[in-house]
Amino acid sequence: MQNHPVIKLIRRSNCIPEIPRTFGEALNMLLEPYEFSIDECIDKLQNVPGLETALLRVLNYTSTLDRKMLTLKDAVLYLGAKNIRIIAIAYITKLLLPNRSGRAKIFNNRTYWKHCIATSIASRMIAARTGLCDKDRIFTYGLIHDIGITVLDICLPEYLDRIYEMQMERGVHQIVAEKIVLKGITHSKIGMWLCGEWGLPEEIKEVVGHHHYPFQSVYAGNEVRIIYLADSISTNYYVKLLGTDTTFNYTDITMEMLNLSREVTEDIALRLPEEVERVNRIVDFDLF
Ligand SMILES: [Fe+2]
Ligand SMILES: [Fe+2]
Repeated sequence: MQNHPVIKLIRRSNCIPEIPRTFGEALNMLLEPYEFSIDECIDKLQNVPGLETALLRVLNYTSTLDRKMLTLKDAVLYLGAKNIRIIAIAYITKLLLPNRSGRAKIFNNRTYWKHCIATSIASRMIAARTGLCDKDRIFTYGLIHDIGITVLDICLPEYLDRIYEMQMERGVHQIVAEKIVLKGITHSKIGMWLCGEWGLPEEIKEVVGHHHYPFQSVYAGNEVRIIYLADSISTNYYVKLLGTDTTFNYTDITMEMLNLSREVTEDIALRLPEEVERVNRIVDFDLF
């Protein structure tokens, strides 16, 4: 993977923000909140440039408390591990994302961010319905699942525009278009490579790398399957936002594996647009 010409181009662009490896370690701790030492975790998060400021800004803006949050420790104690995890992942995703560094001209990263939020919401709904994995953990995975797209937006925007053009104008499937433009690799593989570079937890790496083809991974657990299904439901929502009438079908096998009926997935699809707007109102990601 390291030697793939597209990965070399991404590296050479020098556009990927540096994330200290302690961030991955802190995330690992937040994923197992019963075992973590709060002070050690705070020490690690403190090494992520800008995270403390972003967290405090969000809290002081949205909190109804009369006192101001002054330190990262205040924020962690107030929000708890689950919420810090969501915000921390949203933060690194946004570090790379909309308005900041995205450079593609045709591809619209703000609309794409809505697809990520929708994937998070749909996966949370599936987890709540099936009880097969932790709802809050899967929500954070939804935010990061397409990080490979973001990498392209920042580092190789002209490649992303070419892929997007093939999809929109010629109706080429996203993965096929990517394989043509990116010389055989896809955004999932690029995202997986980045997760490795950043030392993110193995489970996140799996979700990012296999969310389009959950059956190809021998390790694919319920998290990967749920994100796959949520991503498919959310892609239908996204293409409607783009004003096209393409519909993506998802396989019955995954629904069977998760013991879900088509009625349930249709109900999730129906509730998605309103829920995305609701989450957008509660957590103003533009504050990061
Ligand atoms: Fe994807
Ligand atoms: Fe996606």
